[in-house]
Amino acid sequence: MKKILVIHGPNLDLLGKREPAIYGHTTLKEINARLKSIAKKNKISLTIIQSSHEGEIVERIGKAKKQFAALLINPAAYTHTSVAIRDAITASGILTIEVHLSNIYSREEFRRHSLISPVAKGTILGFGPASYYLGLQAIISLM
Ligand code: DQA
Repeated sequence: MKKILVIHGPNLDLLGKREPAIYGHTTLKEINARLKSIAKKNKISLTIIQSSHEGEIVERIGKAKKQFAALLINPAAYTHTSVAIRDAITASGILTIEVHLSNIYSREEFRRHSLISPVAKGTILGFGPASYYLGLQAIISLM
């Protein structure tokens, strides 16, 4: 069975309560449940983690290539700052899809640049939780 790693970055554990006008009312638990159901239907195994620690995310990506066929990641605020996460993706060579709930290009200036997009296979953003579901479908169709 193919395995996919899902990484949720900082503050995404607060979904549902965090700025609902931007991020909606769906909780991370609900998003994860739907991702697992999509995976099950496609006979894929998912490992899902949420971390607010850049170093932990870097280490998980570093070890991912041996275990996982692909990475689905919402780097959250690290999208705009983390050369380390970008380098980890490049170094591992793992098939990576970047997702965002919000359309980062329609928001504050500092969010309009992603360090991750140039090293991802593709980016899906602006569709709320559906960005994750579409991202997982994209990985499945690429595998
Ligand atoms: C986000 C967008 C980022 O700018 C922000 O820091 C997040 C969430 C999104 O999913 O829309 O935490 O990645």
